[in-house]
Parts: sequence; C-alpha cells; structure tokens
Amino acid sequence: MKQMLSDQLKQLQGSPTAKFFRLAKEREASGHDIIHLEIGQPDFQPLAPIVDATIEAIKQGKTTYAISSGIPELREKIASAYSEDYGENLNPNEEIIITSGAKQSILASIYALLDRGEKILLPEPYWVSYPDMTRLAGGNFLPVPMLDDFSLNQEYIQKCIKKSNIKAMLINSPNNPTGHIISPQELSFIKDLIEDTNLMIIADEIYNDYMYIPSSYKTLLTELKDWRENVIVVNGFSKTYSMTGFRLGYSIANKTLSQGILRFVQASTSCATTFCQYGAITALEHRFDAQEVIDNVFPVRRQLLLDEVSKIDGLSLGSVDGAFYGFIKYTYSDKPSEYIAEEILNNANVATIPGAAFGESAEGYFRVAFSRSEEEIREAFKRIGDYINK
Ligand SMILES: Cc1ncc(COP(=O)(O)O)c(C=O)c1O
Repeated sequence: MKQMLSDQLKQLQGSPTAKFFRLAKEREASGHDIIHLEIGQPDFQPLAPIVDATIEAIKQGKTTYAISSGIPELREKIASAYSEDYGENLNPNEEIIITSGAKQSILASIYALLDRGEKILLPEPYWVSYPDMTRLAGGNFLPVPMLDDFSLNQEYIQKCIKKSNIKAMLINSPNNPTGHIISPQELSFIKDLIEDTNLMIIADEIYNDYMYIPSSYKTLLTELKDWRENVIVVNGFSKTYSMTGFRLGYSIANKTLSQGILRFVQASTSCATTFCQYGAITALEHRFDAQEVIDNVFPVRRQLLLDEVSKIDGLSLGSVDGAFYGFIKYTYSDKPSEYIAEEILNNANVATIPGAAFGESAEGYFRVAFSRSEEEIREAFKRIGDYINK
C-alpha cells in the first residue's frame, strides 16, 4: 500500500515550542496558576482606530477577495511610510507584496530564492520556524553556531561559504530570542559577503520597533542601498501593532523576486484578509502612537527583567538590545534546556521555552518573553529564584 503522508511533509519537525505551550496549558487546566512567559506576542490591544477601521471595512462589504499583491492603498501607505521614515523610495506596484503574516513572506522568500537542495545559512539562535520553512521549500539549511555575545560567527560563515554553495542567509535583527541587533561591524561583514559572493539576504525585521539601544539603522534597506537587488526585507503588523491574529505582513524585494513571492501567495492563500488590510492602513497612520505605547512600557519591563535575573545566582542575562525576550543562561545545572524548562514549569509554575528550540548551540539557555506585566515578571522571577535556591 502507498504511504499516506508525503516524504516532503514527513521531514517537517513541527513547532518545537508547541510542546511547551501544551504542557503549560495542561498544568493550568489541572488548577495551577501559571505565569506565561513562553508566548511571543505583545499583551496590549490594537489601538482603537485600527479596530474601528477594520470593523468599518467589514460593514462596508470589504469582505471579498483582494488583489493578490495586496490592496493598492496599503502598498502605497507602506511605500510612503518607508519614504517618510527612512528616506527609501519604493515602487508600491513592483516591490511590495502583502502576505498573510510576515511568516508567509519569509516562506515565500525562501521558495523564491532556493532551488531544490540549495542552501541557506541560519545563524543561531534562530526563530524556531525557519528550519521547517526551509525543509518545506525543499532547500537545505546550514546552522551557524552562535557566539557568546550573540553576534554573527563570521569565521564560521566564511568557512561555510568557501566550502559549500550557499545561496542566501537569513538575518533576524532584532533577534528572537536574543534581542541582538546587527552592529556596524557585522553590517560591513555582510556587505563584503554580498560583494564577494553575490549572497542573497532575507532580513526579518519584525521586531524593528522594539529597540533599547541607540542603533544607527532600523532596516537593512538603508544600509544595503548599493546591494538592493540582493535583499528581501520582511516585516508585518503583528508585533508593532499587536495585530497577531490579523495575519498581515509584507515583503520588499526587487521586481523579479516580488513576482515570485506573488505567485506563492496566489498558489496558497490568494490574498491576505481583505478587511484586515484596511485596518493596517490605519495602523500605519498611527505608527507614532503605536511606537509610544511600546516605548512607554517595554524599556521598563526590560530593565525589570535584567534586575530580577541579576538577583538569582546561577542565571545570567548579558544584554537585551531589542525585541521583547530575555535569553537567559543557566549555570546552576548542567541538565539540557528541555529538562530545565520543564522543571521550571513544574516547580515554579512559570512557562518558558528551552534554548535548544532555537538551535543546537543555544543549549544551556531558556527564553522568557517580557511582553507581560511588571507584576507578572516580578512574581515569575521570585518563583524561579525560590525554586533554584531550594
Ligand atoms: C522572528 C519572527 N519572525 C516572524 C514572526 C511571525 O510574524 P507574523 O505574525 O507576522 O507572521 C515571528 C513571530 O513570532 C517572529 O518571532
């Protein structure tokens, strides 16, 4: 008898974080008071005008399929935001594609770039979805082991590129889970790589409104002006506007790659949800208000997290430059991070994600999201401290 499931899907590993969501939910259902530091989404509501505009769009019957590349008004709004904020002139008809979440843009970009068996470099720690996306696209990924300060392992990357035919590299800055932001020195390394090897870059910039250090840039578009043909920038509305369930993102790429991404959208979802796209126009109109919401709350939580972790022997958190995660190193035990995350859940009732989910070299860490209230963060680390000190 023929096997039921295709080899293509059999090789996908599923979300390595799903197990921890499930364990936390199960423990909660059995009556425990769990603090959820595992979830990677903001805890504030989308601004009222965004909600109103979306509801109004439904009332006005904007409930049919949209043009696959996204409604022109939204693409134009994105282009004008990039022009006003970054001085970048984009062609909204050729270089911007609206997708169902940034996630679809990333998957489509990998499909657009990699032929079967071609390789993409994934610097570790990487967002948990990248490996399965690459497998799905029929490509291969080469993980780049992390350095202690979370910067790019440049020597290793050079070696990989010399030895193997690498087509692309995925850069996530600010990074999930480490918060690392690409430094000027790393930028010049990336420029040299592109120049020497014609490497393609997918830049996942979904957290670029969450930055806590003065950074010279918010998008690689401004930094890689002379290499625009080699860059696909991905962003979306989930994190800045807390619109995770709207499922809206976009890609910015040259005309040829944008056409490829568009074909992917046409073959999979036809278009991103139409009425949500109207909400997204209003989101961009209120982008400075959204930034204010972030700036009022997240730097304080970040500092609180750094302070709380520093009080616990056996835990350390070097820096958190961007995004809303703390990637915490534990030295109080030499057990694997899966075990540590389970123990913290079962003994302290705090849900976290083990470092190993973000790549092999990220073992010895666990991730917490500080997209929770100050009270929750304080209480979580009191519980974790009490447990570790016992
Ligand atoms: C690094 C990174 N990229 C992309 C996404 C997905 O964003 P979206 O909700 O727009 O698909 C996430 C969500 O957690 C993320 O952490």
